[in-house]
Amino acid sequence: MIPTWAQLTYLVCAVAFILALKGLSGPRTARAGNLIGAAAAVVACALPFFYLEQMDNVPLILAAIAVGTVGGVYGARRVQMTQMPQMVALFNGVGGGAAALVALLELEVVVAEGAAADVGWFVLVATAFTVAVGSVSFAGSVVTFAKLQELMTSRPVVFPGLPVAFGALLLAAVGLSAYLVVEPAMWAGILLGLVGLGFGLLLVLPVGGADVPIVISLLNAFTGLTVAAGGYVLSNTLLLVAGTLVGAAGTFLTLLMARAMGRSVANILFGALKGGSTLGGGEASDRPVRSAGPEDAAIMLGYADRVIIVPGYGLAVAQAQHSLRELVDVLGERDVQVDYAIHPVAGRMPGHMNVLLAEAQVPYEQLREMDDINADFKDADVVLVVGANDVVNPAAKTTPGAPIYGMPILNADQAKQIVFMKRSMRPGFAGIENELLFDEKTTLLFGDAKETMGKLLSAVKTL
Ligand code: TAP
Repeated sequence: MIPTWAQLTYLVCAVAFILALKGLSGPRTARAGNLIGAAAAVVACALPFFYLEQMDNVPLILAAIAVGTVGGVYGARRVQMTQMPQMVALFNGVGGGAAALVALLELEVVVAEGAAADVGWFVLVATAFTVAVGSVSFAGSVVTFAKLQELMTSRPVVFPGLPVAFGALLLAAVGLSAYLVVEPAMWAGILLGLVGLGFGLLLVLPVGGADVPIVISLLNAFTGLTVAAGGYVLSNTLLLVAGTLVGAAGTFLTLLMARAMGRSVANILFGALKGGSTLGGGEASDRPVRSAGPEDAAIMLGYADRVIIVPGYGLAVAQAQHSLRELVDVLGERDVQVDYAIHPVAGRMPGHMNVLLAEAQVPYEQLREMDDINADFKDADVVLVVGANDVVNPAAKTTPGAPIYGMPILNADQAKQIVFMKRSMRPGFAGIENELLFDEKTTLLFGDAKETMGKLLSAVKTL
């Protein structure tokens, strides 16, 4: 039995988690929200040490906490912004895996004490769910990590008989779960965990490059539900609340990202099984384009009335956000009106560009969301596309069958002039050619974004 004071503390932690999520929903309050959530998590982890009269394996628990803390701090400090999705995948995967292991341990207690009748069928259903879905989340997250970290191909991996194997594992999971509820047995729990691992692998292997971050968000939702079910098994309200919050947030994020890319979640997960997904890879084009040097681009920008900046993944890779902000400041001093146009899936994770530009002290008011700024492109003298590609690719509107067809895009093509900053003629993440690069209004400024931005900045200053 958890004492009342501890239950109340758990309740306070649950409220803190909700406040943390609220804080994370805006850039000004995100840091405070993060700290509130982290503090509540620390309190919740420490609490059992104070109320449990007898705690087994304390050295092992402390060692596990130490390993987790060192790994977490090291990972968080070392990871680049562009590697954040794979880090989230890894953290999320170990969460799901841990919940599955805890449920297996609870099952062992039930089996050892012959207490199946006492715990009731619903707890056993929750146990089976936690083992199965936690394992799916773990295996799936490991594959997404490997894909994004380029430890394996990011293209869809499919093989003959995949749908059959998929169906067989699904049936096995349902059958084993039913068995576990009727006749709790350790072997059934372990087998269910293994089936879950196999299912997680087969679920994510066929997902191609650009879709992987969405699957991470989906697996995040799975982990949330697993933790909530685990909270039910352990009679721990805080886990139940925290898991439900993660599950709900993950589900919303999955749906929002899928909508921003103009795809359905089912199409993302099962597209490759039908032979429809071709995302990833892509050859560099050798068609002729118009290119210019930083001095020419400086004249275009410096004498414009209205400029719109489209930041993308390449800006983050090059870490050119600070020089970009400086450039915008200098243009501002020349009375050029400048805005940043933020596409919801620019970069590789939700809010990527907002975080990147906030880091460079760009005022939030200058960041304009896609729906808000799309009507302004026709009035822009110059659009400066910095390391972005797919988010301005008109193929999303004009080419049915293209992997990004249906994705809402920024109307960069409506501007009077377009300047692309990129290193080569290689395509963006979706692996397809961008007609806008060959448009007569377009000029290419080849080179690494940071280096080129420095030269462009100097050139604008000398105007
Ligand atoms: P991309 O289409 O991937 O284009 C990035 C561009 O940056 C490329 O054209 C690349 O060209 C250039 N680049 C890379 N490194 C550079 C450097 N050091 N200096 C200058 N340029 C550099 O990016 P985007 O327009 O931001 O689109 C995002 C893509 O990710 C979309 O397909 C989206 O669906 C997908 N995605 C995003 C999310 C979220 S939530 N953000 C989630 C899932 C998928 P070069 O190689 O020629 O330099």
